[in-house]
Amino acid sequence: MKKTIFKKILLILFIVLVAIQFIHPAKNQSTEMPATHIYNKYATSQDVQQILATACNDCHTNNTNYPWYASIQPVDWWLNDHIKDGKKHFNMSEFGAYSLRKQYHKLEEVVEQIKEKEMPLSSYTWIHGNANLSAEQQNKIIGWATAIMDTMKATYPLDSLIRKKKPTNS
Ligand code: HEC
Repeated sequence: MKKTIFKKILLILFIVLVAIQFIHPAKNQSTEMPATHIYNKYATSQDVQQILATACNDCHTNNTNYPWYASIQPVDWWLNDHIKDGKKHFNMSEFGAYSLRKQYHKLEEVVEQIKEKEMPLSSYTWIHGNANLSAEQQNKIIGWATAIMDTMKATYPLDSLIRKKKPTNS
């Protein structure tokens, strides 16, 4: 008796697994290089572009290079979550449409995320071994973000980049 229930559950699970193979979220793919792309706004060397392409673009631009296992569900949902979440926080394709303050803050975040080794996500480097950045590559990303922040500071008044601290009475 118990055995047949178990078999039925397995069968249902199998059917569900097969059925979800036909459901896929829209792919994050675009061949267009929008004017708002960070490369079109701020100087980015080929070298840095190469590092970003290897380690960051998949989750932080409008164009993901999908691995073969993205065609398997529920892996695709899981990847899609990371891409959506990554883009929501920092999208290099739309960087130029951010307010100056947000741009500046996100660059601070880039430096911080790299220094604290939070990015790229470890689930990503686990599979994409070449996204494991060397110290030299990390320094290049940090140097790039810092140089853009310096350019911004030289171009715009500081209070358009950093929110002024509220005056305190102490
Ligand atoms: C596998 C997907 C993935 C990759 C690859 C990846 N990120 Fe992220 N990134 C995320 C996700 C998801 C978030 C949002 C959640 C979080 O902060 O953990 C995020 C957040 C960020 C943020 C915003 C933090 C904030 O709070 O504003 C920055 C900046 C960032 N990543 C930079 C990078 C850089 C630089 C690289 C490459 C060196 C990179 N990421 C690679 C997925 C990724």
